[in-house]
Amino acid sequence: MSSIPLPLAASLALAAALSTTVAHAAPDTYALPEPTAQFRPAPDAAHAAGFQAAQEACMTCHSADYIAMQPPKKGQAFWDAEVTKMIKVYRAPIAEEQAKAIAAYLGATY
Ligand code: HEC
Repeated sequence: MSSIPLPLAASLALAAALSTTVAHAAPDTYALPEPTAQFRPAPDAAHAAGFQAAQEACMTCHSADYIAMQPPKKGQAFWDAEVTKMIKVYRAPIAEEQAKAIAAYLGATY
């Protein structure tokens, strides 16, 4: 008769099998997509204030995904209209000076 009860022997064998598997598993690496939930940094110092203002004013209601989802290279006029829409339609509390800096930053960056 065995000196170790069968269920214990089985769990010991399972534990040994598991630890062997873990010890020999090769590390997995993944290429992550570019993060879009944050604003892209400003391309130059002239747009740094707009970058800062966008982070403060545009993420209170939604993430920067909404900006990144727009077609690229739409230009300043498109972003002026978007920022104006956020203020007029959705009542985003953004001062005019800030709004201009944000639109300029978005036009130069996206
Ligand atoms: C007061 C809340 C609020 C703030 C602040 C806000 N947004 Fe929005 N935004 C919305 C809402 C609501 C939608 C529409 C969501 C939907 O259609 O599902 C939206 C949608 C968008 C879209 C998608 C296209 C569109 O026109 O619907 C873009 C781009 C966008 N916002 C940019 C901005 C930018 C840039 C800022 C900062 C200047 C900003 N948002 C700040 C509420 C806000």
